[in-house]
Amino acid sequence: MAEIQSIAVIGAGTMGNGIAQVSAMSGLDVTLVDTQDSFIQRGMDNVKTSLARFVKAQKLTQAQADAAVARIRTSTSLSDAVKDADIIVEVVPEKIDLKQAVFQQIARAAKPDAVLATNTSQLSITAIASAIDRPQDVIGTHFFNPPVMMKLVEVVRGLQTSDRALGVALALAKKLGKEAAVCKRDTVGFITTRAAAALRLECLRMLEEGVASMEDIDRAIRLGFNHPMGPIELTDFNGLDVALFNAMSLRDAYGERFNPPQSLVTRVKAGQLGRKTGAGWYDYTDPKAPKPTQ
Ligand SMILES: NC(=O)c1ccc[n+]([C@@H]2O[C@H](COP(=O)([O-])OP(=O)(O)OC[C@H]3O[C@@H](n4cnc5c(N)ncnc54)[C@H](O)[C@@H]3O)[C@@H](O)[C@H]2O)c1
Repeated sequence: MAEIQSIAVIGAGTMGNGIAQVSAMSGLDVTLVDTQDSFIQRGMDNVKTSLARFVKAQKLTQAQADAAVARIRTSTSLSDAVKDADIIVEVVPEKIDLKQAVFQQIARAAKPDAVLATNTSQLSITAIASAIDRPQDVIGTHFFNPPVMMKLVEVVRGLQTSDRALGVALALAKKLGKEAAVCKRDTVGFITTRAAAALRLECLRMLEEGVASMEDIDRAIRLGFNHPMGPIELTDFNGLDVALFNAMSLRDAYGERFNPPQSLVTRVKAGQLGRKTGAGWYDYTDPKAPKPTQ
């Protein structure tokens, strides 16, 4: 492949529509796929709202924003969408069975030289690749939320990933104006998910031990380490169920240092999953002024 010109993005949710947008803004021909027209519509509405913000901030002209929208074709047919793409990025929910099934569909329809990427945050690239007969073409391209703003793409090699696929993934990151960090070994949580979990779990343990209030723990990490959000408020933002699943997978891989704190388990049982349910560690009855729930 001379240069990447086209990308198919499978899944138009939180991450998928952002990856489609940044790809279109970088001049790629994009096909954005989801299972229902309404999901695609929601994704495209997000893209248009985000582009309008760029125009308002004078970072894009209206003509550039319109051109980006025009570069995104949408489809509910995965096989049709991937057939001409140089690279395909799978961005469906974090479930191994679903991702393997989607990769089987992709592998049946993609060009022989297409690179098949997954945006998984922590699942094994090798396990996803094991579902198809061309594992050498499979690689992790882990974008961050929101993809239009966040600079990093964590590129993760599976056991059988070829140097060619790695090269194409790095070229994609560059084309999109991102910086890549390569995780050389396919290990649970890669670099970033594993490191973020260690910080989050230690902060939750400090909270359980009464070392400091949740507001002070969040303030300390935010201001002391220049993080945009503290780990406890970030857990509310991403979902406590996601944090629990994440901790359990890391515990299975690395042992008890990733044991989920009891307070996290209890809140998930109570359905207090964070912003999406109105309460997690903080209460969002007034979303502009969240209050600690303990
Ligand atoms: N949300 C984040 O902050 C974040 C950050 C980094 C990585 N990730 C990873 O990105 C992936 C997607 O996460 P998300 O937050 O965008 O999820 P999401 O639930 O917002 O979006 C997933 C989309 O995939 C669609 N989908 C489901 N099955 C499909 C299929 N068979 N074909 C086509 N589309 C299908 C769904 O309808 C949905 O629109 C996950 O692997 C997640 O771990 C998420």
